[in-house]
Amino acid sequence: MKKIVDLIGKAAETDANVLITGETGTGKERVAELIHLNSKRKKGPFVKVNICAIPETLMESELFGSEKGADKLRRGKFEEANGGTLLLDEIADLPLGSQVKLLRAVQTKKIMRLGSSNEIDVDVRIIATTNKNIEQEVARGNFREDLYYRLNVLRLVIPPLRERPEDIIVLVNYFIKKYSKREGKKIAGVSKGAMEKILNYSYPGNVRELENMIERAIIITNSDEIKEEDIIMNFNVIPEPESIEGKSLNKLLEEKEREIILKTLEKCKWVKTKAAKALKISERKLRYRMEKLGIKG
Ligand SMILES: Nc1ncnc2c1ncn2[C@@H]1O[C@H](COP(=O)(O)OP(=O)(O)OP(=O)(O)O)[C@@H](O)[C@H]1O
Ligand SMILES: [Mg+2]
Repeated sequence: MKKIVDLIGKAAETDANVLITGETGTGKERVAELIHLNSKRKKGPFVKVNICAIPETLMESELFGSEKGADKLRRGKFEEANGGTLLLDEIADLPLGSQVKLLRAVQTKKIMRLGSSNEIDVDVRIIATTNKNIEQEVARGNFREDLYYRLNVLRLVIPPLRERPEDIIVLVNYFIKKYSKREGKKIAGVSKGAMEKILNYSYPGNVRELENMIERAIIITNSDEIKEEDIIMNFNVIPEPESIEGKSLNKLLEEKEREIILKTLEKCKWVKTKAAKALKISERKLRYRMEKLGIKG
């Protein structure tokens, strides 16, 4: 984490665009916000756009605003972020058509609202994030190379939690403080057995998963110390061979399906249209399967 803090400091000193990459839940959004808060733009707005959650047809008006139709004038995120920082979250999901428009805005620092031909100056620093391998997306022709170079001026790669086990202990203590305060409980720490269990896990969901796990432990524990049995790993644990025994294939497939659907929903911020698209099924079918599997959302 010290290395990450260092990089945040360096990124905050300049006004160059930043690309933050790393697996899901590693803290990309958090890092983006910290860069903003430590930069000379800190008094300006910090505006976040989750690209993954915006339908393609609305992308342009979301980003650049609109003066079209009966609607009154609508400012886009670029204008909102004027004088500050614009976080483009999940940038690899930006459709190719919108990439051209974004490139123009990034290069010229000018935008045009949809349905207008007036250019508006915008002073915006861009931080983009993605958990995809963006170089691969460029190589596959899904992401424009010119835009990639414009965004990738500074690059922050956040390693997964399993590659920085020393951070796990620090984060565990931090989350214990945070959630015991919220729950009004006095919890001193974790038992030896619990810590072993915590350290031996691989955290496919990274810091987010660790945080959820500690939050859950704080809520369910009956003692002033978190015990091994209070530590419940998330749904995305691959079942051990023993737990397969005695279950029918149908049951096992159902568990797997549940896991896949939950992971996809989480990735798409629970926007069902997006998740359905990612899974290549209709939204209707997704809703039906969710209901069947008892997934609320
Ligand atoms: N160093 C940290 N200290 C405390 N909390 C952290 C840290 N890193 C991440 N978190 C927490 O973990 C959660 C996930 O972080 P964040 O949303 O920034 O991840 P992300 O990389 O953007 O994930 P995704 O790719 O899924 O969007 C958040 O609740 C965040 O507050
Ligand atoms: Mg994020």
